[in-house]
Amino acid sequence: MYKQYTLLLCMILALALQAQKYPGLAPTPPMGWNSWNYFNCNINEDKVKRMADAMAANGMKDAGYQYIVIDDCWQISRDKDGYVIADEAKFPSGIKALADYIHSKGLKFGIYSCGGRLTCQHRPGGAGYEAKDAQRYAEWGVDYLKYDWCNSEGMTSQVQYSTMRDALHRAGRPIVFSLCEWGSTKPWLWADTVGHLWRTTGDIQDRFAKGHGVLKIFDEQAPIRQYNKPNSWNDPDMLEVGNIGLTYTESKSHFTLWCMMAAPLMAGNNLHAMNEKILKVLTNKNAIAVDQDKLGIQCFLWTKANGIEAWIKPMADGGYAVCFLNRSGTAAALDFNWQQVANDPDFKKTYQIDGSYSIFDVWGDKDLGITAQNIKGSIKGQDVLFVILKKK
Ligand code: GLA
Repeated sequence: MYKQYTLLLCMILALALQAQKYPGLAPTPPMGWNSWNYFNCNINEDKVKRMADAMAANGMKDAGYQYIVIDDCWQISRDKDGYVIADEAKFPSGIKALADYIHSKGLKFGIYSCGGRLTCQHRPGGAGYEAKDAQRYAEWGVDYLKYDWCNSEGMTSQVQYSTMRDALHRAGRPIVFSLCEWGSTKPWLWADTVGHLWRTTGDIQDRFAKGHGVLKIFDEQAPIRQYNKPNSWNDPDMLEVGNIGLTYTESKSHFTLWCMMAAPLMAGNNLHAMNEKILKVLTNKNAIAVDQDKLGIQCFLWTKANGIEAWIKPMADGGYAVCFLNRSGTAAALDFNWQQVANDPDFKKTYQIDGSYSIFDVWGDKDLGITAQNIKGSIKGQDVLFVILKKK
């Protein structure tokens, strides 16, 4: 009898101690800013504080952006006990002071490390130091950890990332865990119990139609859309909106596509120096509502005709977001009949839109009538028409 009770107690204890990702931290795709796409390695505490100041004051915070994340290059070595040391020349006040500052602005603080021995910029990585790093992150007040995969030869991603997940859990602070193994080991198949989001591809380039830019990455997401869901997000990488390689139109299209995918929205531009038009893109409340829709369904291709693709995203209120995308460099004519079946091949659903939906133009900020008639017009090269349909 005594033996049985001991066994039962052990089993209950084991279950209670079993680590897991912190539940409920990302019911909608995380929104914030990350230092990498604009500053790369050239970060310091003043720059990061200026970004937090900008986000708190310019309307981004009100629009839902929360996290200020420092990427690679904040760390320099480890002390004799194995604890990570921040680069004092760049962060003279220390990481805790920076986290406190960001928190004082009503924002959350994120940090970067790597599951390998060294980060991608050859700073100390987390392998073998997970418990110490997680303990420090919790003490500093970290709310979000991006965890990279460089210098991980011979390691198994699932093991390394689960080790860090467990360490974070034991450290006792709710921290969003953002996996960044670039889709190399198909995290969508195993990471929903490990992290809250996972990168699905290699790094985004600051270009639209060429290279590993916006369109290429967008296309790489379609085959894995069924894995996107609340608290477990496909991450097609951080935004290049407002950066030098994209025109205003391309930035707007990029933002639209990320909202249509229910992707994490991590701005990657200089928030302190952006112009009004870019700020309006990043803070458009209707676009963000599409991204943050609580169903978390990633869009699928509805139709393709005359150089225009129609992508559709079912929404929680029974409505839809639709993006008409013109990938080419020249204008294309739109003449679209709403009343054609939309087949979702991955969730095995069929949607039939009747004539009774109102059409709201997100970037034009105006009503465009109802779905009883064809929608007609012209879409510029590399532009989108982004609309929200609501049942009247
Ligand atoms: C990798 C990641 C990037 C960035 C850099 C930093 O390339 O994918 O997003 O974090 O490392 O070195």
